[in-house]
Amino acid sequence: IQSTASAFLVDKGNHRHFMLKEIYEQPEVVARTTAHYLDMANGKVRLPADLPFDWAKLPRISIAACGTAYLAGLTAKYWFERFARIQVDIDIASEFRYRETPMVPGGLMIVVSQSGETADTLASLRYAKENGQHVLAVVNVPTSTIARESHIVMPTLGGPEIGVASTKAFTCQLAVLASLAIAAGKGRGFIDEADEDRLVRAMMEAPRYINEALKLEGHIAQIAKSLSKAPNVLYLGRGTSYPIALEGALKLKELSYIHAEGYAAGELKHGPIALVDEAMPVVVIAPYDRIYEKTVSNMQEVAARGGQIILVTDEKGAEHAGIDSIATIVLPDLPSTITPLVYAVPVQLIAYHTAVEMGTDVDQPRNLAKSVTVE
Ligand code: G6P
Repeated sequence: IQSTASAFLVDKGNHRHFMLKEIYEQPEVVARTTAHYLDMANGKVRLPADLPFDWAKLPRISIAACGTAYLAGLTAKYWFERFARIQVDIDIASEFRYRETPMVPGGLMIVVSQSGETADTLASLRYAKENGQHVLAVVNVPTSTIARESHIVMPTLGGPEIGVASTKAFTCQLAVLASLAIAAGKGRGFIDEADEDRLVRAMMEAPRYINEALKLEGHIAQIAKSLSKAPNVLYLGRGTSYPIALEGALKLKELSYIHAEGYAAGELKHGPIALVDEAMPVVVIAPYDRIYEKTVSNMQEVAARGGQIILVTDEKGAEHAGIDSIATIVLPDLPSTITPLVYAVPVQLIAYHTAVEMGTDVDQPRNLAKSVTVE
């Protein structure tokens, strides 16, 4: 891991910003991370040896993290529940640490952090340890405090991340957490060898699809021109696309300073629909999955009110949308497990290009810090 980090030349290369360079590193670093946790030849997940717990006996999983790392954790909740049929509690670390939540001893606490130094995440880790949890850290800096204080460390092999807004660390966190969820499913008997093989193979395809997503940069830069004129932008998604909608909104607001909100598509009618009019771009993250039709009906509600839809979907989804969007970003059809890893890329590029259009400081947005080591 040390040599991995030092193998990266920490300069911008041919890119205008560190953030863009890091976005473009994703096929490589996700491939490196998946290769570390997946036995490609045999279609199996490869976890650290001697896990101090038995998946089948685990009472529950808790996850705490901040910012983009929290959104990786939120995505993982969907995977753990689906693959391993285990209850997952996830909270923002600054809430978790003061919530005085009861914890059943012997549970698993997962903390996710790029830097491994975020104060609230570290405090959550310590609370969990005091309350008898096994603590597993998904961190990008293996020498960090969070890594040192955790029982199990699963590093993301993203290499140093310089841009304040996390990009490659996020997709690497997703790669680690998906591998872990597959292992949990196997350990709990909800995934058999054939399923494991299929899921591992799907994961192995992620870097190739991320590469395909990167090819859409020119088209996304055009879309960003109109987004940069909007005072507000809404992002919608369901299932594992919900955290990606949240991530899209987070990235846009932190980089371009445009007010953006991410919502679970089904919550549209419980509030944000009141804001929708001709001046409101709505970015809809909707791969053609088992809940696609539900998202389409939310999209129709937006369209009926003149909302300007930017649809991020795949080929099948574009075919079935039946809606006038101002723009459609079409990714290839891909296995549903890896959609968050791939759909992260267009939302990163939307935020990046909108910020470039606005002339803001992409790598060092105002008031933000890369590592938040104080409360
Ligand atoms: C800051 C950064 C974010 C990051 C968050 C959590 O807000 O700007 O990009 O997601 O901290 O940081 P961590 O190092 O714990 O992942």
